[in-house]
Amino acid sequence: MKIAIIGQGYVGYALSVAATKAGHSVIGFDTNPKLISEIKVKDDLDNYLPTNNEADVKDQDIYIIAVPTPLDEKNLPDLTFLIAATQLITRSASKGALVINESTSYPGTLREIVITEIEISNKAKFLYAAAPERIDPANTKWSIKNTPRVIAGIDDKSSKAAYEFYKSICDEVILVSSPEVAESAKLFENTFRQVNIALVNELAQITEKLGISANEVIKAAATKPFGFMKFNPSLGVGGHCIPIDPIYLAQKAENVGASAQFIRQANLLNQQMPIYVLKRLEGLLEGKISGKKICIVGISYKPDVTDMRQSPSIVLWQELEKKGALVSFHDEIVKEFEGKTSMALAPNSFDLVVVAVAHSNLVVEKVINSAPIIFDCTGTIKGAYQL
Ligand SMILES: NC(=O)c1ccc[n+]([C@@H]2O[C@H](COP(=O)([O-])OP(=O)(O)OC[C@H]3O[C@@H](n4cnc5c(N)ncnc54)[C@H](O)[C@@H]3O)[C@@H](O)[C@H]2O)c1
Repeated sequence: MKIAIIGQGYVGYALSVAATKAGHSVIGFDTNPKLISEIKVKDDLDNYLPTNNEADVKDQDIYIIAVPTPLDEKNLPDLTFLIAATQLITRSASKGALVINESTSYPGTLREIVITEIEISNKAKFLYAAAPERIDPANTKWSIKNTPRVIAGIDDKSSKAAYEFYKSICDEVILVSSPEVAESAKLFENTFRQVNIALVNELAQITEKLGISANEVIKAAATKPFGFMKFNPSLGVGGHCIPIDPIYLAQKAENVGASAQFIRQANLLNQQMPIYVLKRLEGLLEGKISGKKICIVGISYKPDVTDMRQSPSIVLWQELEKKGALVSFHDEIVKEFEGKTSMALAPNSFDLVVVAVAHSNLVVEKVINSAPIIFDCTGTIKGAYQL
């Protein structure tokens, strides 16, 4: 198959590699020329052409959209990138091509946005399917290949064509009855995580008042062999998925007249976690944060990734600075952030260290020796103050 993948970020690039290895001929298109040059340097795959030249994506068998779907400044779904990608397909595709959306978006996006947009100016008949990506960056166990893929076409022919393509790169493909079901399932998966993370973060606030350990309570609850799934308290949620996807679901729910209070509340609770942690730090420093040397350990949004998008560490950092603290950071894999460099964890070099994220190669002993007060949001540092 000749495949054009629109967007060569986390999702699009991983998909390009998987499709190329499955024997397809892949054009990886991205509007960011710097990214394309970087991919060209690191990659020598046959049958894969990273490009920012629009002419390269003409007349492909399959077009796959893998562009960002963020929130705008009003906290509403921002489909600007998705619409631009759709317009590129409108200009490039010819009759019979299969158009797939892998970008996460609310139910109805394929039909109401992608198809509507294409049909405005390209009258050829296309096949359409939704196949939301489920990739988990840095997860060494679950990949594109062994994570079952949920897909649906707008008709039998589209479903069959999409099924055949995904069967060539995934072990298991689950065909559901409509694109709206596939789109909703993706949002619900991440909403499930958002809500459960909020629940344990609320538990951490309750157990603090009770004078017991949230981590010990959760560990004990997790001994039940059925009906319980373990989530751990944290500084909050980050990245391009958990803080955003539930808002896409809530927004759509409210547009169609359903309530999404539970989802909104979970979102709020997780967003406020850095403020809660700030209060705990203030307590440990007896209210005297101003002038204190505070180091945040692990500033990306989760372990073993360098992704800083929506990282709750940034919020904590800003809040600490507002209180006059002298904030620095230590991160094994994010060596620089906004002109600041990662600090070494030298013995007794800070007044307080807050562990936001523990990457696999974090040396716990160095953390413990670096300050008299260690506050651990990860539940992994023995002897430290815990959430
Ligand atoms: N990152 C994840 O872990 C993950 C997991 C599952 C699903 N998703 C979803 O997949 C989609 C893509 O996410 P991502 O993490 O790969 O984003 P990303 O920011 O890493 O990559 C997106 C790429 O699209 C490019 N782009 C933007 N507009 C374009 C256009 N009009 N034409 C061509 N390229 C364009 C950008 O330059 C960027 O390189 C989003 O909807 C996201 O929610 C992400």
